Amino acid sequence: SWTPEHFVDSMVASLQRTIGETDQVILGLSGGVDSSVAALLLHRAIGPRLHGIFVNNGLLRKEEFASVLHSYQGLGLNVTGVDAAQEFYTALAGLTDPEQKRKAIGRTFIEVFDREAHKVEGARWLAQGTIYPDVIESVSVKGPAVTIKSHHNVGGLPEHMKLQVVEPLRMLFKDEVREVGETLGLPHNILHRHPFPGPGLGIRILGDITPEKVDLLQRADAVFIDALHQTGLYSKVWQAGAMLLPVQSVGVMGDERTYERVVALRAVTSVDGMTADWAHLPYDFLADVSNKIINQVRGINRVVYDISSKPPATIEWE
Ligand code: XMP
Repeated sequence: SWTPEHFVDSMVASLQRTIGETDQVILGLSGGVDSSVAALLLHRAIGPRLHGIFVNNGLLRKEEFASVLHSYQGLGLNVTGVDAAQEFYTALAGLTDPEQKRKAIGRTFIEVFDREAHKVEGARWLAQGTIYPDVIESVSVKGPAVTIKSHHNVGGLPEHMKLQVVEPLRMLFKDEVREVGETLGLPHNILHRHPFPGPGLGIRILGDITPEKVDLLQRADAVFIDALHQTGLYSKVWQAGAMLLPVQSVGVMGDERTYERVVALRAVTSVDGMTADWAHLPYDFLADVSNKIINQVRGINRVVYDISSKPPATIEWE
């Protein structure tokens, strides 16, 4: 029967056979479970010949770049952190269409990643944290005429970089990936992290993206996520986050009339992200988060809660 220990032993041996004794391997790390587990497996197989690249696209959660990089370094991984936030903001300037934004983010990621990958002498392999549902989904979204959403974690890179691809998690489901991660000592904060989209806050800021909006959303999102952790609700939902809406609404503060931004909170329960129900979070909890956001984040004067299920409402708003 399948056990994470057996999987680790046989996959490490298989990676050593496939990659050999001298080749260097490159892996893009995202801070998510999948790429992190792939990194630990490869690290066990080939040590520092695994070169992790962790790109700050300027669309991560508040303080996430520094804290995740710190976790990776604590695990002994050979990882380079690349702060490319400005490059992404430049590529995104003025774009409002969700698919155009995704494409700009995907293109910029490849440019940055490519540049870093070229600095690794003797790189022959590109490792990816692709898991079984990604394989299935990337087939199903490539249906006729319409692309539902272009997920950029699958495909794209290999041809461009002329590297051979190695995908050690390709046959695993998410819960199996977590078990393998646990066996390999992945810290709890990464192991039990909610899914987070590759384009990050770029698709949670509706309309055009500016560094100011990113800062506003990061702060509101952090209030929400911190509160979920503090109340033990984080592990009860599949995914949660805040969306910055492209509208302003009227409010009062003292004698002053304000005209500021609106944030929508989204939290869902789900098994695989394909269908999802809005999470029935307690009213008291929502009231507390709303108060905190409005009091602490200048520029936001209204908070709403998304009570739509998927289908038809996707988890992300873009
Ligand atoms: P939707 O919004 O389609 O999301 O219900 C389902 C899951 O996929 C994530 N998602 C993405 N992940 N690139 C990604 O890597 C994307 O462009 C993208 N769009 C959505 C979403 O966060 C949810 O977990």
